[in-house]
Amino acid sequence: MPVPYRIGLLGLGHVGGALARRLVEDADRIATAAGRPIALEAIAVAHPQGRSAPAPLRPANEVVGDAKLDAIVELMGGLEPAHTYIKAALQAGRQLITANKQVIATHGPTLARLGPLRFEASVASAIPIVETLAESLGSDRIRAVAGILNGTTNSILEAMGAGSSYADALADAQRRGLAEADPSADVEAHDPAAKLAIIAMLAFHHRIDPSQIARVGIRELGHAELLNARERGCIVKLIAAARTVNERGIEADVRPRLIPRDAPMARVDGAMNAIAVDATYAGPLFLQGVGAGPDAAASAVLADLVRAARDIPASAGALLASLADQPVAAIAPMGSNPPYPSAS
Ligand code: HSE
Repeated sequence: MPVPYRIGLLGLGHVGGALARRLVEDADRIATAAGRPIALEAIAVAHPQGRSAPAPLRPANEVVGDAKLDAIVELMGGLEPAHTYIKAALQAGRQLITANKQVIATHGPTLARLGPLRFEASVASAIPIVETLAESLGSDRIRAVAGILNGTTNSILEAMGAGSSYADALADAQRRGLAEADPSADVEAHDPAAKLAIIAMLAFHHRIDPSQIARVGIRELGHAELLNARERGCIVKLIAAARTVNERGIEADVRPRLIPRDAPMARVDGAMNAIAVDATYAGPLFLQGVGAGPDAAASAVLADLVRAARDIPASAGALLASLADQPVAAIAPMGSNPPYPSAS
């Protein structure tokens, strides 16, 4: 019997709950994929009183410092205290798996220098874009990335286009476990800006500060704008886009854009995300899949867990670590320039 891969989980919200369920219900299949069983040994939650959980509930600092654990899975979300726990776990020699786009976008390069850091679930949940950019496309030269990186706003725009009010559409996204704890992160585009920073670092090999990415959210959009777009044969999508300019500068922003109704990006509905990649040698790629929601995010976390249990190198983490000493790249907004041919 192979030795189990022992993990501790920080956070038992929508995604943590879905991961814990999969670890129980799909244990055999996961063990086959990982080459050994994955054992959930401890869970930390913010308010443990009266909570039942599929593994012993322990304080987060104990879980992070437990030398019997092989890996810590951080699914608390938000910058702090998640960043502090991730740093402590890496310094203590644990593998670290996270879905936390804010922490990775802001601190990824410095954290990744401390140890194996895996974050496939941080961008577009089920779409395997993180390791794809770092590994499969690592030797290519990526000219641009553009896409729909937020399922909440994509669902809201679709529901509003069908006549729902903004408030009802947002409440529905919250019910489905798509929205962030503070949904202003979604509707004011902080969430897709963080995801764009992560994939732009992996695509362009430049260090990027997510706060320098210009953002326009969807709060100001009303039914009139959506109707007007439709009359022009278009649909409004919140597009996150970045590209290199003459291999030196970077342009990037997140903003609502008019997309022709027959373009592939216009047909990405609800909680789906899509990412167009313009690679010099591989050519244009278009990846589409479920970008938000507990099961999709847990599936990306499991992909990292399987890689960690099999001792497969953390390629995206290593790429971020290589950027840690770089100065932060200057970023200009892309403005009304088309983000990328197949995205518009
Ligand atoms: N709030 C995020 C979204 C969750 O709606 O896309 C997935 O990162």
